[in-house]
This record gives sequence, structure tokens and C-alpha cells, in this order.
Amino acid sequence: MKYKKLFESIEIGDVELKNRIIFPPISTNFATLDGHLTEKYIRHYERRAKGGVALIIVENVCIDFPLARHGKFEARIDSAEFLQEWKELVKRVHKYDAKISVELTHDGYMEKNVNGFSADKIEEILGKYVTAAEIAFKAGFDMVEIQAAHSLLPNKFLSPLTNQRNDKWGNRTEFAIEIRKRIGNKLGYNFPVTVRLAVDDFKEGGIDLNEGKRIADILAEAGYDMIQADIGLGPKEKRLEPMAYEQGWRSYLAEKIRPLPVPVTAVGVIRTPEIAEKILEEKADLVVLGRTLIADPDWVNKVKERKEHLIRKCIGCSECIKARHDEDVAIRCGVNPNVGNEEEIAEAKEKKVVAVVGCGPAGLEATRIAAERGYEVHLFCKEFGGQLNIASIPPGKEKLRWLIDYYRNVLKGYSNIIIHEGEYRRKSIMAIEPAGAIMATGAEPFVPFSIVEDMVYVYDKILYGTIKFKNKSIVVAGGGLVGCETANFLAKNNKITIVEMLEEIAPGVETVTRNHLINELKEKGTKIMTKRKVIDIKKGEIILENTGNGQREKIKCDAIVVATGGKPHNPFIIDGISNYVVGDAKEVRKIVDAVREGYMAAKEV
Ligand SMILES: Cc1cc2nc3c(=O)[nH]c(=O)nc-3n(C[C@H](O)[C@H](O)[C@H](O)COP(=O)(O)O)c2cc1C
Ligand code: SF4
Repeated sequence: MKYKKLFESIEIGDVELKNRIIFPPISTNFATLDGHLTEKYIRHYERRAKGGVALIIVENVCIDFPLARHGKFEARIDSAEFLQEWKELVKRVHKYDAKISVELTHDGYMEKNVNGFSADKIEEILGKYVTAAEIAFKAGFDMVEIQAAHSLLPNKFLSPLTNQRNDKWGNRTEFAIEIRKRIGNKLGYNFPVTVRLAVDDFKEGGIDLNEGKRIADILAEAGYDMIQADIGLGPKEKRLEPMAYEQGWRSYLAEKIRPLPVPVTAVGVIRTPEIAEKILEEKADLVVLGRTLIADPDWVNKVKERKEHLIRKCIGCSECIKARHDEDVAIRCGVNPNVGNEEEIAEAKEKKVVAVVGCGPAGLEATRIAAERGYEVHLFCKEFGGQLNIASIPPGKEKLRWLIDYYRNVLKGYSNIIIHEGEYRRKSIMAIEPAGAIMATGAEPFVPFSIVEDMVYVYDKILYGTIKFKNKSIVVAGGGLVGCETANFLAKNNKITIVEMLEEIAPGVETVTRNHLINELKEKGTKIMTKRKVIDIKKGEIILENTGNGQREKIKCDAIVVATGGKPHNPFIIDGISNYVVGDAKEVRKIVDAVREGYMAAKEV
């Protein structure tokens, strides 16, 4: 068996897990504003249980309402009022032979450190952990998890940067030990309590890995039944990694805190079964697949059935993080339009011939869904993957190719898809006599300047390598995502200046990803000029207007690369039938919009 370790059982305390795969807490914002569970919330976890995972740890829940609420839509487990809802969730997950835990979370009232907490307050908070654990126990949860990483309250007690107390709580492990002891005393030690532990703060003067190992030893000794090796106070980027991060990059954290008498988990960008199996062979007892199972809830069953080529891998586009952290709305997924719905695609009653024109993410998703509904689908395709091909070229964007591979593999499984390669022609589309057409013809570069020969180039030529530069001084006109990524691509071998009209570059991009990109550009010496309007372009120079002070500036350069985004390309519609225009062909946006619109159109057509 290729993935032997992944499918070995293991015990956490006395609770047996059927395999080594955990779905970790990923806050969804699917609960209500007053902390109640919704059908959407329950279905989300039920669906992941159905997909074969051994243990689900429900996202952070509030144990001290309202002052220690961590997120606007955080579910509550602080009162018996919520018991029935939790019971329902547990029942629905247990149906699939999955075990279920819940992450008890306290944000410490957002205090910077724990120095100001009175002894009485600490006692009161400890009581809240016990109450929450008791509700979880009564609801039938198999265990609970204490969130002691990511700057939450127990993390702040553990870290020397945030705990300088002189009383017994100044013994930094005491708070976490006491939580374990009190839950054990109340519910018995047969009810496992696990900990998501900051084994490295990733911050100067904080918990380092030696200290993390010491803390892990103490907490295992104190009775915690599993330790999740995670990250503490430091930058968000380390725990909500942008696309560029390598698979399994932080599994060394689990390795370094071993050996321990209890199981240790590894987390972070584990996307393929090969990497997961290797981590289990060398570094950890269990693997934690977060966004991996958001993108594809059937990951585990697909691996078990050796259909791993059909996995829809998380590409790291950070749409889920943008929704949760930047917008505080229900999470969404760039590649899985079914997050939050978890609906089954039903066979269509009436069989139709459907044309899908364009094979970028919108067209490919539309093709998949229309085929799943049993239609005869004709996919008109110029370049399989569409703009994903060019978007995957800049540094750190390689994972976008995973989405192309997914569609290539999954579409092969349908005998009712006919692919027509080549230019899109109305005549060829009409010839199949479609009942409906989904137009997913994408976008083309938007070029607002006249092209001065041997001086001005459009970004697609650069990324595709038609034009190559080395040791040149180049101005990239346009500081949106495409401009920044083109600049990043060129910056390895050239001196780059980005010129942008707006006040900032990469606006609207998820914060962690944006910061990562800007840091990378700065590290490569890229100059960023915002609030600059292009006035004129001549051979060897560009003239700008500083919209802040109205002054003109002249920049000498060898070339100007235009990367001012795209404009919809929608060459025609077919008369007399229903037409759906989706993705960039409708309005230039992101993968998440393309996939969702392709999905919706194919459901409707
Ligand atoms: C949208 C989102 C919400 C998250 N919410 C939580 C949370 O509630 N509690 C928590 O401990 N970690 C949370 N995490 C972190 C994940 O549990 C996980 O550690 C992280 O995503 C890295 O694993 P992955 O690469 O498999 O996703 C969240 C991550 C994401 C992407
Ligand atoms: S939204 Fe993007 S980062 Fe989040 S799970 Fe989906 S593919 Fe991964």
C-alpha cells in the first residue's frame, strides 16, 4: 500500500482514530452573530467527516461571551443554552465514523500581555474553560482542544514576551497545566484534552524551539493527550501562509519537539499525499490538513481509493483568509465553489447539448458541472487553463498549475465531454446546435498607452518569455496584482520601478499575501512610485505626473512594461439560445469569481 502510514489507526488518550488525518480549526463565520450554530455550519463539518478524515477539530469557539469573543461570528460554548446545537453537530459528524473535538478559545480580552490580570480574574477564566469542556463532554464530543498558539491567552501566559508576572502564574506553563488539571478533575482523565501549542513564537525574545520543546515536555507530563506543534505570537504569514510557501515547510516544528509520550501533529501547507506520508514517516504522528480539506473535502477518500490525481488541491489563493480576516464574512474558496453550500449536483431531467466557449477556470468549472449533470458538453478550447497558464509563471505562483492539472484529470473521467481545439468560431459552435452556451472567453491585456516600438511591451510577452531582459532598467506601468507580479518576475535580473496611479500597490489583495509580495519586491530592490500618472513615453524615458503635488518627473529607462490589467474579451453571443457570460469575459476579476460563475451557470443552463 502506497500510503501505509496515512491510513494507520492511532490513539489519542483512549480514543481511537481510524487514520492519521486531522481537519483543524478553520473559522468559517458560518455561525450567527449571537453565537448559534446554523445548518450551514453543521453541514460544513458533516461534509468533511463524510470525506474520510479521522478527527475534526471544530473552529475556535467562545468560552467567555461577549468580552473574549474572537471574531464576529464565533459560535458559543459558554452556556448550556447551546448544548442541543452542539449535540446535533456531533451526531452528524459521528455518522461517518469520524471523531470530533472543539477548539476552546480565549483571546484574553485582547490585552497585550497577561501581567495585568488579577488572580481572581485568572480563576474566573479557568472556570470558563471547565464549563466549556463540560458542555462539550455532554454534547458527545470525543475530546476538546485548548488553543495555546496564535497569540491567544494561553500562548500569552507561555511566552516570555507577554508574561513577566511575579506570582505563581509567572511560571509560564502554570496556566496551561491548570486548565488540563481542572478539566481532568471535573470530567476524568479518560476524556482527552489536546493542545494547539506555540512551540515557536517566531519573534525575537519569545518562545524559540528549545523552549517550545521544554514546554511540550511539561504539558505532555501534565496530561495533555496530543500536541499540535504550531506557531505563537509572530507574524500571521507564518501560520496563514501565502501561495509561495513550500509544502510542509514547518513540519520540522513537530519533529523537534519529539520524542514525546503523546502523539504530535504537523501542520502547514500539506497538500499532497506524498508529502503527508513522508511527514508521517519522519517527523510527526498525525498530519493536519486545513485549507487542503476546504478545497477538497474528499481528499482522504480520494487518496484511500488511489484517485489522488482527482484531488482539487488548495492553491493558496487566500480567498478564505480574505473573507475571514479582512472582510469578516462567511468563508469562500477560490477553487471550491461549494464551500458553505455542500450541495450534491443532481442529474438534469432533460438532456441537452451545451456549448462552453473558453477553457480558463470559469469554462473548465462550467464544463465539469454541466457534464456532471449529464449534458452533452462541447468545450471550445484555445489554451487549456486559459489565463491560469500565464498567472502561474511569476515566482511563487506555480501552485496555480495544480488547478489546470485538476481539470485536465477530472474532465477525462466524463465520456459526455467533447473538446474542440482551436480558435472560437460562431459557425462551429452553431453547428452543434446547443440549447445553451456558456461564454468564458476570458480577458485580454488592457493597454492604455500607445506602443512605442522597442520601448513599450505588454506584460504577457514578458511572462511568456517572448521578450527577455537582463540587467536593464525597466518601468512597470501598473501596480495592481498583475503589475506587481510581473515586476517580481523581472526583478531577479533587472532594476525595476513600479509606477501606479493609486495611493497603494496591489490594492484589494488579501493582507498577508500583499505584505509578502511587497516585502519580496523591496528585497529585490524594486522602487515603488504611487500616485503617479503616465503623461508621456519616449524612447529611453517616461514622463510622470505626481498627482499628490502636480509635479512632473522624468525617469530614464531601457523599457516600459505595461501591466495595467485586462479587459473582458467576449467576441460574440449565439442568437436564439440562452447565453451565460462568466468569469473575466463578464468582468475582469479573480479565480474565485470565475470558478463560482462557471459553476452557477452550469447549474442553471
Ligand atoms: C480561513 C482560516 C481560518 C482559520 N481559523 C482558525 C481557527 O479558528 N483556529 C485555529 O487555531 N486556526 C485557524 N486557522 C489555521 C488553520 O487551522 C491551519 O493551522 C492553517 O490554515 C495551516 O494549515 P493549512 O495550510 O493546512 O491550511 C485558520 C486558517 C484559515 C485559512
Ligand atoms: S480559498 Fe484559496 S487558500 Fe483558501 S482553501 Fe481555497 S484554494 Fe486554498
